Amino acid sequence: METIFKRRSVRKYTDTAVSDEQLKQIIKAGMAAPSAKNSQEWIFIVLRDPAIYQTFSEVHVNAFAMKTAQAAILVCADLSKEKDPGQGWWIQDCAAAMENMLLEATDLGLGSLWLGVHPKEDRIACMKDVCSLPEGVEPLGIMALGEPTKSREAIDRYLEDQVFLNTYGNTWGK
Ligand SMILES: Cc1cc2nc3c(=O)[nH]c(=O)nc-3n(C[C@H](O)[C@H](O)[C@H](O)COP(=O)(O)O)c2cc1C
Repeated sequence: METIFKRRSVRKYTDTAVSDEQLKQIIKAGMAAPSAKNSQEWIFIVLRDPAIYQTFSEVHVNAFAMKTAQAAILVCADLSKEKDPGQGWWIQDCAAAMENMLLEATDLGLGSLWLGVHPKEDRIACMKDVCSLPEGVEPLGIMALGEPTKSREAIDRYLEDQVFLNTYGNTWGK
């Protein structure tokens, strides 16, 4: 469980390559996530083309992590696979997959970053275009990966003011 607290966003990477084996392990972790009605509607697109990183950086000005990323994975949903269509569960399902992937990357000693795509229309349109996503395949986010240039501290963000007992505002744990 230490991995949960060690996971931090890494936005600058060395030029050490990320292997396909590492990517497979990370995607496997993504596919192990819980999903509504076990829909598993996720689709993972391994991004190895620097031109894609560049194009995304043009629509997302704070995507500078893509400048040094050694690999990236686009997490999408195939809406036709949803077992309870039209409710938007795919967002939660793919977010759970993304978090699992970030944790697996941390466990492998890699630095990673979640770059938001959904719900920004311009980023969605960009990724649909560059990855030729068919109708009904929706992008959620991009995971950037690489060896961190420096280590980041583990973090404890526990905020007791945001935890209540039974009713909102009723103190718990103080
Ligand atoms: C849905 C989502 C979208 C995010 N999008 C971006 C992004 O586009 N660019 C970025 O640099 N960080 C992005 N982040 C990372 C957050 O900024 C980061 O998780 C937060 O600042 C906390 O830092 P930590 O990850 O080191 O704990 C995103 C995180 C989430 C969950």
